[in-house]
Amino acid sequence: MKGRDLLTLADLSASEIHRILATAKTLKSAKNTQSNSAPAAEYRPLTGQTLAMIFEKPSLRTRATFAIGMQQLGGQVVDLAAEHLQMGVRETVPDVARNLERWVDVIMARVFEHATLETLAEHASIPIINGLSDYTHPCQILADLLTMQEHKGDLSARKIAYVGDGYNVANSLLFGAGKLGYHLAVGCPAGYLPPDDIVARAYGLAKESGATLELCTDPIATVQDADVIYTDSWVSMGLEAEAAERERAFPPYQVNSDLLRHAQLDAIVMHCLPAHRGMEITDEVMDGPQSVVFDQAENRLHAQKAVLLELLVGGMPASH
Ligand code: CP
Ligand code: NVA
Repeated sequence: MKGRDLLTLADLSASEIHRILATAKTLKSAKNTQSNSAPAAEYRPLTGQTLAMIFEKPSLRTRATFAIGMQQLGGQVVDLAAEHLQMGVRETVPDVARNLERWVDVIMARVFEHATLETLAEHASIPIINGLSDYTHPCQILADLLTMQEHKGDLSARKIAYVGDGYNVANSLLFGAGKLGYHLAVGCPAGYLPPDDIVARAYGLAKESGATLELCTDPIATVQDADVIYTDSWVSMGLEAEAAERERAFPPYQVNSDLLRHAQLDAIVMHCLPAHRGMEITDEVMDGPQSVVFDQAENRLHAQKAVLLELLVGGMPASH
């Protein structure tokens, strides 16, 4: 994948996704248990390379894990604060791309509009990584697939259930399941199901992979007998103006102990974070024994290191 962009999981082949997950697993198992900041001191394949990070919206996990991951692989990072960059205001998005490609080797951007990523990709010769857009969040789902595999092994006979807002995270889950051939049920209030173009594309992928995709408005049917229950914020970044109407529509989709009773007894509970405790997920569930939310957060680091290796040096040599 050297030199390519990562804008959505739909752009990767199933074998590319599996390869990223395998590399992430290897990197995780090689992690130095003595110190989070200096794992695998001898493995620095990105020495001399620079990652530029652009954030139009806030972030904890994406910012921290991309910076730490790049540094652990020997590279360096420049974090371009949105208020200084003012992309599209102070200068055009193509001009930002044309400048950055002269100084850095890869750009990770978190943007309001997915089209901004496409414009960056069109005008920069270096890889562009989607760190979340209004459309998809591929790096999140790569980390989540790793987490699901760790807890549930082979996912082909498992049921993954997503309840909540049919937005960027749900969209990427649809692409991930569609690519890898998994069973994914998505339950959202009417009017909040994933957009038609995402659903059509995911069904197209499912035809090739054999994935079973179900979309409905019934939260109980969605989680019935599920092995994985996943939820996300009801009011994503950028949608704050809709908070009142969303908070009226979403309560039946809250991941709480009543909803969990309909899933498998050993179902795991996932959330991309940040969580709005008492809204889409209760304290009891988030802090309970079935929650794997901080494993997901940890796996952002390993999955994104694998992505950086793929895009910058074509992956991890077999000897590692
Ligand atoms: N899950 C996730 O992307 O977290 P941040 O918004 O903190 O980066
Ligand atoms: N759907 C959420 C995900 C945050 C990581 C948002 O876009 O705000």
